[in-house]
Amino acid sequence: TIAASGLHLHGASVPTGGAPAVPVTALRTPDDAPGELHAVELTAARHLVTLSSSERVEAWGFGGDGVAGPELRVTEGELVEVSLVNRDIDDGVTLHWHGYDVPNGEDGVAGVTQDAVAPGERFTYRFSADEPGTYWYHTHQAASEGVRRGLYGMLVVEPEGGVAESLDLALPVHRLGGETVIGATDGLQSFTAEEGESVRLRVVNTEQTPIRVTLAGAPFRVAAVDGRDLAGGEAVEHRSVRLGAGARADLVFTMPAEAVRFETDLSAASVVVIAPPGVETDTGEDARLPREVIEVPELDLLAYGDGARPELGPFTAEAELVLDRLPRFVGGAPGYAYAVNGAVFPHIAPIEVREGDVVKITIANRGFDMHPMHVHGHHVLVLSRDGVAATGAPLWLDTVDVRPGEVWELALVADNPGIWMDHCHDLSHAAAGMMMTLAYE
Ligand code: C2O
Ligand code: CU
Repeated sequence: TIAASGLHLHGASVPTGGAPAVPVTALRTPDDAPGELHAVELTAARHLVTLSSSERVEAWGFGGDGVAGPELRVTEGELVEVSLVNRDIDDGVTLHWHGYDVPNGEDGVAGVTQDAVAPGERFTYRFSADEPGTYWYHTHQAASEGVRRGLYGMLVVEPEGGVAESLDLALPVHRLGGETVIGATDGLQSFTAEEGESVRLRVVNTEQTPIRVTLAGAPFRVAAVDGRDLAGGEAVEHRSVRLGAGARADLVFTMPAEAVRFETDLSAASVVVIAPPGVETDTGEDARLPREVIEVPELDLLAYGDGARPELGPFTAEAELVLDRLPRFVGGAPGYAYAVNGAVFPHIAPIEVREGDVVKITIANRGFDMHPMHVHGHHVLVLSRDGVAATGAPLWLDTVDVRPGEVWELALVADNPGIWMDHCHDLSHAAAGMMMTLAYE
């Protein structure tokens, strides 16, 4: 149960070198689901990363020499147990499973579902992997700096029968020290796939502003967004996919005879090239073209695909969120606070729901900044954007990228009790007030 203060201290922190991991036989998920145990330990620590410019920058990471933490790849039905150890991150650290709707106590929000894990301490997360898809994890303590410095990684839940594609790559796109890092490293990375084989690219935008990504050399289908499959959807060519902060998209394509290049609008230097064996992977001049802005039009995901829309029944609760920025003195200098309904964290009234509610949420952006609003513990179904109803396959998102002037209507099914954070995933906006809760009665 959650204390009235909203501060729920989940479990006790065990000092490093203390109690061993919980034995498998003692492990119980909330619903006592049977399943294989997938246990991992992640150590948060400071380290130096050498960029391709040979500049060395201080990064914070979860192990390895590169930037992103280890890719956690589990199979549907497994029990996931991740033991987080903080070696030397002074501000403390947690693990939030972005987009994976875990039970509330496993959500990793410092100050709401647990205390931050201090240097020398440990915290163990447990949940069952029952939703196949593409997710990521990141610290949720002083997150604006922590994520930027590298405290993140990918979480992939493979479907029980295995992934259909022969090549399946997880590609977190990040920026560190002015360089774009896709996966563990910057620069050109190459992979091989036989002609005719299908390939899945799981892309996440770990940045605080939107990015656009595309493929050159093959038509692709957007197979999933924010960890949820999209029904239908023709293969498209010469289109980019916009990913708001924190958002994911799975791109699937059939390997042609020539090389295919995955690129972002962040940098021309960091690309992923996939080619059949024996075909040159350095696609030459092309790969080094300046592409600060990808010159292909954006795909409208609200009209993409053609699946049947779910019957969500009448709304039993409603919430309206008006986003804006307010002039404020910040540390003595004129600056901005980022507000919801005229208030900033912790003074924003929560969205109050009862279990079983179908909640209509309207978000209006009256400000001048983009606000990728992220809902913890739930996905929301997009009903409309600026008065235009969504017409494509049902689009379930956990992060809604609300641009200046836009109004979005969303539906949320209250099926995961607890106190959940909702906030702007431009984490500097969250730190400057745009952070609130969705609370079950
Ligand atoms: Cu990805 Cu509350 O965060
Ligand atoms: Cu924002």
